[in-house]
Amino acid sequence: MTTHHAIDALYVRYQVRDLAVMESFLRDFGMVPATASDGHRLFMRGTGEAPFVYEAVRGDDNRFLGAGFSVADAATLERLAALPGSGPVEPATGVPGGGQRVRMRMPDGFEIDAVHGAAPAAPLPVRDAIPLNTAQAKPRVNTAVRIARQASPVKRLGHFVLHVSDHQASVAWLQQRFGLIASDYLAIPDAPTQPIGTFLRVDHGDALVDHHCMLVLGTDRPGVHHCSFEVSDLDAVMSAHDFLLERGHTLDCGVGRHLLGSQIFDYWRDPFGFRIEHYTDGDVVNGTHVPTIFAGTADQTTQWGAKPPADFFE
Ligand SMILES: [Fe+2]
Repeated sequence: MTTHHAIDALYVRYQVRDLAVMESFLRDFGMVPATASDGHRLFMRGTGEAPFVYEAVRGDDNRFLGAGFSVADAATLERLAALPGSGPVEPATGVPGGGQRVRMRMPDGFEIDAVHGAAPAAPLPVRDAIPLNTAQAKPRVNTAVRIARQASPVKRLGHFVLHVSDHQASVAWLQQRFGLIASDYLAIPDAPTQPIGTFLRVDHGDALVDHHCMLVLGTDRPGVHHCSFEVSDLDAVMSAHDFLLERGHTLDCGVGRHLLGSQIFDYWRDPFGFRIEHYTDGDVVNGTHVPTIFAGTADQTTQWGAKPPADFFE
């Protein structure tokens, strides 16, 4: 099986009824417009090099459309375009950064893009991360912590989570097209050796990457579970939490620390009901990481902090 290694997850795409409402929420969430919206499509960026991290398209109903990954070269696009379920290599017209793209259809219909040649955005200025003075080491000296209660800029898309009807088929699809590899597996206590979920990362060999860029979970209700964006540090997560509450947005679950990937998380519902996450302090791994199968209860996937509501696991 030929693989075409992805460089990174770049963006997610949704269709919603009202772009102005979505833009207002995403600004509060810490994104800024990548370009002026034309009223039909909205592109939002973070502070990192991705030309955009979130696309919203105006439509009659609200739904997740798909996501995009960067790939290394034009030859990869040609190979992907030849596979079943792929569209042609085409220019990413009207999209920030441009470049060439192949849009593919995953099992369950999600549109997954491979992108090459997009012009990176100039990173936006951000404050330095705030060093924590722990009991063991106190790197912050003669310097007070001062944090404004305001939107915390998101840097980049970290990961997104899909519920799929055929776990193995979807994982194989992603492995074949993007060379994603398993970091850890989820199982249920009654069948501890039969994974129903796979945390997938991009394969950069010895180089460190996020523990996962995707989680794929087998369920009988396919759809997106959430998308997740990285912010600077703990103070960014916590101050954004208070700011989003003040702005009247809907908290889903947070703040807490995950088990698999270890992120400090904070989940919100956007105005259309989609779950969206801020995170910081996630694990990074490389080729020496050994995958495990976690066969605990849903409750055990949170180490401390807010306990996810029951519908989080549906
Ligand atoms: Fe997440």
